[in-house]
Amino acid sequence: MDLVVRNATLPDGRHGIDIAIQDGRIAAAGPKLPQAGAREIDAAGDLVTPPFVDAHFHMDATLSYGLPRVNQSGTLLEGIALWGELKPQLRQEALIERAMQYCDWAVARGLLAIRSHVDICDDRLLAVEALLEVRRRVAPYIDLQLVAFPQDGVLRRPGAFDNLKRAIGMGVDVVGGIPHFERTMADGAESVRLLCEFAAERGLRVDMHCDESDDPMSRHIETLACETRRLGMQGRVAGSHLTSMHSMDNYYVSKLLPLIAESGVAAIANPLINITLQGRHDTYPKRRGMTRVPELMAAGVDVAFGHDCVMDPWYGLGSGDMLEVAHMGLHVAQMTGQAAMHQCFLAVTEAPARILGLEGYGLEPGCHADLVVLDAGSTVEAIRLRAARRVVVRRGQVVSEAPRSASSLNLPGRPSAVNFRLGR
Ligand code: FE2
Repeated sequence: MDLVVRNATLPDGRHGIDIAIQDGRIAAAGPKLPQAGAREIDAAGDLVTPPFVDAHFHMDATLSYGLPRVNQSGTLLEGIALWGELKPQLRQEALIERAMQYCDWAVARGLLAIRSHVDICDDRLLAVEALLEVRRRVAPYIDLQLVAFPQDGVLRRPGAFDNLKRAIGMGVDVVGGIPHFERTMADGAESVRLLCEFAAERGLRVDMHCDESDDPMSRHIETLACETRRLGMQGRVAGSHLTSMHSMDNYYVSKLLPLIAESGVAAIANPLINITLQGRHDTYPKRRGMTRVPELMAAGVDVAFGHDCVMDPWYGLGSGDMLEVAHMGLHVAQMTGQAAMHQCFLAVTEAPARILGLEGYGLEPGCHADLVVLDAGSTVEAIRLRAARRVVVRRGQVVSEAPRSASSLNLPGRPSAVNFRLGR
């Protein structure tokens, strides 16, 4: 074997598992495997998970915080305006450099698959070209999936639909949209129909920024679900944000949840961003704004947590750590039961992997040999500690390593120096 990871605890709780890797694939997984590895890693009972997956990101904007100025109000609309100011100043090389730096951060945190929206409203399609180049460069270690995203509205912004078609022709993977930003509810619904029909014709996936507002009457998710059914696109469509669901009438939601589930439409919440951008027109009490995550999960909908932004016009924090995203999601959704906390871990691993349609994701024999050894004993502990990534493996190769976190204390009045693992 090229590599054997010994004594792993898996996300489902199985422990004492060895994972044998050959030619970039998992050859075997089970207790006390007899195969020897050219390299062996002792997980020592730590959690070994398939890589983190971010289902919702904006790599064309990342690490641009402060360019050309910071977002003073911290609101979504000032962020969109600021992005509009920055767009004409974007230079391809600088954009590639920032995205590559972010991808380095991502790998070190075991984040090996990212779906990034890319704004296609700049007629130059400069960001599209840049991120296609980034996708090519990082392909050995990150699956980067790109969404053609009409930030200014596919109908509202003249020429946006042509730009979107050009971007798809250049190799962008997924059709995006932003119906709540169109001028009217009717235009929003029309944009959903137009974009879904285009995606269906081309056999593409759809991921729309949908109802990212506190307006309980913003109901484009209903149209998205119905179009998905009408066009037979079940399992290939996602609604991102869906924050208006937070404010909707409960009776309406009781109709909406089964519709979303039956349509096979996935939901992507972005807890770090939703908790900071939503509820901005409220005094007190302030709404959290995140969509109804546990209710969607209970209805059988695939729900992922996305990072959305890292140091960009909308958000000045973040580091590519999907455990931070899961930690925030867990708190905002009040998912504090043991099973619910575990589901939050799956919302940054297995669920987004299904939404992206990643082939060979998992730790079963035959899967790609992509995995992360965490400095934690379980999925819940991983979230609690935002655990260090001890080893990150991609296609059987170690791409990042870090020592186990340990602190040495030598305190006056204590009997002896101690070396301990923080929080464990
Ligand atoms: Fe977004």
